[in-house]
Amino acid sequence: MPRLTIEEHGTYEVEAGTRLVRAIEDAGINILHRCGGYAKCTTCRVEFLSGEPAQMTKAEKEKWKEKDTSGVRLSCQMTIEDEMRIKVINTVESTGLEDPGDTPKEDITPEPEWVPTNT
Ligand code: FES
Repeated sequence: MPRLTIEEHGTYEVEAGTRLVRAIEDAGINILHRCGGYAKCTTCRVEFLSGEPAQMTKAEKEKWKEKDTSGVRLSCQMTIEDEMRIKVINTVESTGLEDPGDTPKEDITPEPEWVPTNT
């Protein structure tokens, strides 16, 4: 099983194919996902220290075109296939919000259309 390391929290064995945002929550971290995992809010962003996937969903790419987002990715727009080391940026505790947002579905939403990160 791939290992997910979350800075300042720990390292976890995660079933391959698990949506990253859900794996972070499963680790007990109240990461924000204000749009429910639809690549609209960007609150689920994480910083990659290693293991950043070389592809992204078209929905994530479109969202990043609107913003300057070097070094961060949307955890709702990927699954864990290999070892990853990340830093979580927005949590309920760090923002003071009352809740993280609607629970993201198990599968990536909207239906993913994959594109390379560097195009
Ligand atoms: S962009 Fe909103 S939860 Fe990921």
